[in-house]
Amino acid sequence: MKLPPFKLERYFAKHEFNTEFLLCSSDCEAMPISELLALESGAAEKFQNVWLGYTESLGSPTLRKEIANIYAKIMPEDVLTFSGAEEAIFLFMHATLTESDHVIVHSPHYQSLSEIAKDIGCQVSPWLAREENGWALDLNELRHLMRSTTKAIIINTPHNLTGYLMSQADFDELNLFALEKKLILFSDEVYRESEYDSAERLPAACDVNELAVSLSVTSKTYGLAGLRIGWVATKNKKIYDAMASLKDYTTICNSAPSEFLAEVALRHRQKLIDRNLNIIKHNLTIIDQLFTNHASRFTWTRPKAGSMGFPKLIKGDVEDFCDDLVKKAGVLLLPGSMYDDSRNHFRLGLGRKNLSQAVERLEEYLRKVGG
Ligand SMILES: Cc1ncc(COP(=O)(O)O)c(C=O)c1O
Repeated sequence: MKLPPFKLERYFAKHEFNTEFLLCSSDCEAMPISELLALESGAAEKFQNVWLGYTESLGSPTLRKEIANIYAKIMPEDVLTFSGAEEAIFLFMHATLTESDHVIVHSPHYQSLSEIAKDIGCQVSPWLAREENGWALDLNELRHLMRSTTKAIIINTPHNLTGYLMSQADFDELNLFALEKKLILFSDEVYRESEYDSAERLPAACDVNELAVSLSVTSKTYGLAGLRIGWVATKNKKIYDAMASLKDYTTICNSAPSEFLAEVALRHRQKLIDRNLNIIKHNLTIIDQLFTNHASRFTWTRPKAGSMGFPKLIKGDVEDFCDDLVKKAGVLLLPGSMYDDSRNHFRLGLGRKNLSQAVERLEEYLRKVGG
C-alpha cells in the first residue's frame, strides 16, 4: 500500500489548530460532552458507569438499534459501525474491490472516495459535477463512463464541497440503473438530514436498493466529529460480512464512551439537526450578503444542503489568495486544488458559530488588498 498524502487533511494539519478563524470546516459546530448529556435525563450518571472493556465488534446492539431508526427498512443487523466514516470507506473498498475492477466516482470528491480504489489498482473514472448545471451529475454521462469491468459507483449527496442535492427522479433512475447492471452503489450520505428544505431529502440508498451501501457518521449533520462513530447500513450481506471481517485488522471495535454518547446523540438527533441547521441558515444570510457585496470578485452557487459551499475566485490565483489570507488575516479557506479542482474555487464552511467574525475579518482583508 502506497497511498499518497491526503491533500486536504495535510492542509488542515498545517493550519487547523493555529488559525484564528476556520472558514472552511466541513462539519457543524460541536459541543461539550456536558451539553450532549443534558439532552437526556439520567444520561450523565449512566455515562459515569460506562464499562471500559472491549465493545462488540459490530457496534453495541443499542447503538445499532438507534442508527437503524434513521432508515426506513434497515434493521440493527444491517448496521455496522466504525471509527468515523473514514474507516468505513477504507474497509468498503478493501472488502469489495480488486485490481481488475473499474469504479466510477462522483467528482470532485473527498479524496479517499477514489484514492483507496486507485491504490488497490482499480481503474477510476470521475463522474463530473457541472457548475453550469448547479453542480448536478448527468446520468447520460454515467452511461458513457460504463465499462464491462465496472463494479461500483460512488456518489456523495448532499455533496461535500458544493452542497448539491440530487433530485429524487435522478436518484431513482440511478438506483434502477445500478440494480439492473448489478453494480454496487456506495452512497456517501454523511450530510443526509442537513437539507435546507426537508421535503427535498432523498431516501437512503440502502432503503431502496438491496445492493447499495449507505455511509454515515456523527461528524457532519450532527456536529459530533470527536466521537469518531461512523457506520454503514446495507442489505448487502456479502459486503457487510466482508467489511465486518476486515475490521479485525483496523480498530476491532469502537471506543465504549463514544458508543454511549453517540447513542444519546442519535436518540435526540432531531434537536441536533435543528440546532445545526439554524446555525447554517443564519450563516447563509451573511454569506449571501458577502457575495453580493463582492460580486465582481467571486461567483457563488448557493448550496441546497450541508455545511459547505464552493465559490469561485474570479481574478487571481486561489492558492495565493488563500495563502495570503491565512497569513495576513488569520482566516482559513481551502483552495479547490486540494480536491483537484483547477478552476479557481475554494471551500467555504457554513457550520460554525463564529462565521460572522470570520467574514468581518475577510471583508477587512478584502478592503485592504483592494481590486
Ligand atoms: C463526504 C465525506 N465522507 C466521509 C468523510 C469522513 O468522515 P469522518 O472524518 O467523520 O470519518 C468526510 C469528512 O470530511 C466527508 O466529507
